[in-house]
Amino acid sequence: MTTQELVPGLAGIPAAESSISYIDGAVGILEYRGHPIEILSEESNFEETCWLLLRGALPTRAELDGLRAELRSRRSLNDDVLGLLRALPRGGHPMNALQVALAGLGMTSPKVDAADEASSWEACLQMIAITPVLIATFERLRRGDDYLAPDPELDTAANFLWMLNGEKPSAIAERTLDCCLVLHAEHTMNASTFAARVVASTEADPYSVCSSAVGALYGPLHGGANERVLQQLEAIGGKENVQAWFQGQMADRGKVMGFGHRVYKTKDPRATTLQRLVRELFAEHGSTPLYDTALCLEQEVLEHLGEKGIHPNVDFFSGIVYQKLGIPTDVFTPIFAMARVSGWLAHWREQMSDNRIFRPGQIYTGEHEAAWVPIDDRG
Ligand code: SDX
Repeated sequence: MTTQELVPGLAGIPAAESSISYIDGAVGILEYRGHPIEILSEESNFEETCWLLLRGALPTRAELDGLRAELRSRRSLNDDVLGLLRALPRGGHPMNALQVALAGLGMTSPKVDAADEASSWEACLQMIAITPVLIATFERLRRGDDYLAPDPELDTAANFLWMLNGEKPSAIAERTLDCCLVLHAEHTMNASTFAARVVASTEADPYSVCSSAVGALYGPLHGGANERVLQQLEAIGGKENVQAWFQGQMADRGKVMGFGHRVYKTKDPRATTLQRLVRELFAEHGSTPLYDTALCLEQEVLEHLGEKGIHPNVDFFSGIVYQKLGIPTDVFTPIFAMARVSGWLAHWREQMSDNRIFRPGQIYTGEHEAAWVPIDDRG
């Protein structure tokens, strides 16, 4: 047997064959089922993107209208799950609440047969429809408001903003959030999707798959970065402080949140689209100084770290968009999750279509045949 070499973080090691999405990190290409993200973010919407990811092709108008109706009809929370959300500690993080709520949803839903298309599709519809409702409801409950019923006339992005704020969103707010959901829906074998595939490979139910993936996404090196980017920009305090702050970070060997990527060694194409959304929002609702700070920080990082392939990633500008939409900072990562549920479920279905349980090896660095010492004789 050849001596195997450890690859930290399994960097570049294929974990599966997949036809769901594709990235070329050198030139900044991202495609969902072959469709470039730039086209999807301009021409498509979240519901159409969900169909594309889950079914492998763009829907007909009848299929899309049917999907929208199916999702709207699956948003009501059962009393058990609503009771679960009411019982959660209000000071806890919404990502922990989402993890609990998705597992709770699995406890109150029919058993899923992954091999049966109707059963698999029903589970996907339910989770894509309900995840935004879980997030908006926990946010309302923890700030002392009560549950607000979903609006059956609204699609995913608009209904989320309706449930969060209790008012119908403007056209630009709906369009902006919908585009953010498209941008965050899928991204090949990132840490949370890998977690989803590992859990799927044990034949666990899709609720456990997505609940586990939420846990992985929550981390600050992954989806949790968007929340920290905003805290970072606020801590810098203004574009005049960027250089000193950056020098301090480098001196402390700290990370600049929202920059760097395991695959992209150029600007994340989603960051470029998010900047377009920022400019469109500012044109209608006025700018925020945080964006000026962000642009200065981008320049400073590129000047010093660009040669190492460290560029803005998807998390760098998303928080500025969400803050402009009036979304609380710790709800940024849950928004990432409610989009990525569609990608996780596409990977769950793909894994189950040709499954083998994940069980990687290790390089053992411990002892052998260690001596047993009775407890009273141990030093
Ligand atoms: C997402 O994988 C995906 O697809 C994820 C995602 C998706 O859609 O699912 O795109 C979403 O998670 C985006 C990433 C969000 N995370 C952050 O913004 C956190 C800050 N970024 C870093 O922690 C880091 O860039 C990672 C975690 C994103 C990538 O880590 P890698 O590939 O393991 O790179 P590394 O940590 O080994 O860094 C290599 C070098 C190091 O310097 P040296 O030790 O070689 O001198 O680059 C440096 C690092 O110090 N570096 C950074 C940096 N990122 C890497 N230095 C300062 N700031 C950074 N952000």
